[in-house]
Amino acid sequence: MRYDTLILGAGAAGMMCAAHSGGRALVIDHAKAPGEKIRISGGGRCNFTNLHCTPGEFVGNNPHFHKSALSRYTQWDFIDLVNRHAIAWHEKTLGQLFCDGSAREIIAMLREEMARAGADLWLQTRLADLTHSEGAFTATLERDGVRQIVTAPNLVLATGGKSIPKMGATGLAYDIARQFGHEVTDIRPGLVPLTFPEGRFKPLAGVSLDTCISNERAAFQEALLFTHRGISGPAVLQISSYWREGEEIFVDLLPDTGLFDTLRARRRTHGRRKLINELGHLLPARLVEYLAPDLGLEGNLADQSDTGLRDLEKALKHWSLRPGGSEGYRTAEVTLGGISTSGLSSRTMMSNTLPGLYVIGEAVDVTGWLGGYNFQWAWSSGHAAGRAI
Ligand code: FDA
Repeated sequence: MRYDTLILGAGAAGMMCAAHSGGRALVIDHAKAPGEKIRISGGGRCNFTNLHCTPGEFVGNNPHFHKSALSRYTQWDFIDLVNRHAIAWHEKTLGQLFCDGSAREIIAMLREEMARAGADLWLQTRLADLTHSEGAFTATLERDGVRQIVTAPNLVLATGGKSIPKMGATGLAYDIARQFGHEVTDIRPGLVPLTFPEGRFKPLAGVSLDTCISNERAAFQEALLFTHRGISGPAVLQISSYWREGEEIFVDLLPDTGLFDTLRARRRTHGRRKLINELGHLLPARLVEYLAPDLGLEGNLADQSDTGLRDLEKALKHWSLRPGGSEGYRTAEVTLGGISTSGLSSRTMMSNTLPGLYVIGEAVDVTGWLGGYNFQWAWSSGHAAGRAI
């Protein structure tokens, strides 16, 4: 069977590419349904893009690579597509756009766009073998126990990264890229909860508060959530993409409060109040209780010296933590690293060395922040390749 383009992976990037590619495209996926990650994303409502998307919210070895695709298919283009399909949406916070109804509407929209472009979709299909010769790829595909040979001059790798293997994530794109001489950078879980040994934060499980978490590479002011295994929440997921094993992170537990000035003023007017109770007005009570033995929160406000208050401010606004690890690919939202951008055209996503080979989406060494940026990369890179084909 002959197609113009064979797209491996019916996820966000693969479907977007199929919807925009010229000629006849076949999209294959080993899953039972396309866009499974879209379906579960954003708590079932899919945070499909971000109003404030700029190239600054992406991580990768080449900080310029993603600029071209993102500028030629922007968040406004995707919003326009969503509007044309009459999908209702809202901004939740920090420019993050979600469906009012269900993420399934985004999948239905992409399926409709693929069908309009005349693309075929084969589900529960496995790639058994792949070769390239004389300007064409030859794929041996297995579907319903039957082997079929498909040839195409264009092959698009859109099988994503390794996050959430339970959902069918595999390293297929990396293996094929290597097969055709492409480099794959080190990969690691990103946007992932961080863990601590010995159930360090177990007593705090469920406590959540606004924080600013930083290291020497980045800082994020968002919520932190303590869990049985460690810490999670948007601020933690964000910093995890900039963290390496063995390193410290710093947590400002009171990002919008000058603690020293606040407590000094309270000391003047309410000196008889207990320090621990005053802190309980500023932080979750369970957290104050947990920290009390280390911080020595005895006495009234009037008992506290300026130096003592300064030390307390430092301890709470510069809390140093050294995570033992992360929850890994089991729960990571994305894979950091991937197929090296040094071997790809940033305009078309095509291989610089093997014409006809394209790589898009999460498989590429481009990873977005939490907040709709990863889907925007999938849409933009999928569109760039589709338009070039
Ligand atoms: P994607 O993973 O979507 O698609 C790859 C496809 O390839 C899958 O359909 C898979 O079945 C198929 N495949 C894999 N291996 C194969 C093989 N060997 N043979 C055949 N097929 C194979 N991002 C965001 O911007 N907003 C959000 O709200 C969220 N939320 C979110 C929640 C959760 C729980 C996760 C895990 C991730 C997110 N993300 C997100 C990230 C986002 O889902 C991700 O970046 C994109 O789905 C990447 O799109 P791709 O098309 O590159 O890969």
